[in-house]
Amino acid sequence: MSPSLTVRRIAADQGAVFRELRTASLREAPYAFGATLEDALSADVASFDATAADRAVSVSTSTFILYTEGHPAGLIEAHFDDTAARRAFVCELWVAPAVRHLRGGELLVDTAGSWLAAEGATEIFAWVADANRNAMRFYEALGFNQTGEHRRVARAPEQIESLLVRHVPGTSQVSQQ
Ligand SMILES: CC(C)(COP(=O)(O)OP(=O)(O)OC[C@H]1O[C@@H](n2cnc3c(N)ncnc32)[C@H](O)[C@@H]1OP(=O)(O)O)[C@@H](O)C(=O)NCCC(=O)NCCS
Repeated sequence: MSPSLTVRRIAADQGAVFRELRTASLREAPYAFGATLEDALSADVASFDATAADRAVSVSTSTFILYTEGHPAGLIEAHFDDTAARRAFVCELWVAPAVRHLRGGELLVDTAGSWLAAEGATEIFAWVADANRNAMRFYEALGFNQTGEHRRVARAPEQIESLLVRHVPGTSQVSQQ
């Protein structure tokens, strides 16, 4: 039987859970993220407490946590950028290998997207490394499309990442071109 998966917004006192998930994701899938495991391990533990406290209540940035049978098993960040366009992004997505292909990633993206939509987003963006074929196919399966925008991966400038977008159903769509 498949384990039951749930997603909840991070709580203010979940700094330790946040640190555990971030380090697990950076250790398991270093190719997928801008930060490195060394960044996370060298960061002050208190900084994770401060981030959790902020993301539990902020209207511009949040983190959502995936649970399987009550145990933390994945996460995603949702935020608005600070440009005039105030574009909405999901990032830092990771699902623990033991519970992949059970729709946990989809639940995380949909929950984060719903939160962004409730805060006013009409489009949800995601940067995905071209070399990360699994993530690219995952986002495309969820209805994300290429915007045509590309940039170098900051951590590995020889690599390219592409900007994907999914429109929020039932909202007017603002062209980014
Ligand atoms: C990408 C990731 C989050 C997907 O999580 P997941 O919980 O396994 O994904 P889901 O079960 O919700 O998949 C939903 C759909 O996406 C597609 N999909 C998911 N993983 C896929 C893969 N490896 N290859 C092709 N399609 C995939 C499938 O269509 C899937 O539906 P299906 O299972 O009915 O075929 C997970 O593989 C992961 O954490 N990878 C490492 C970190 C990473 O790359 N993060 C993204 C950074 S941009």
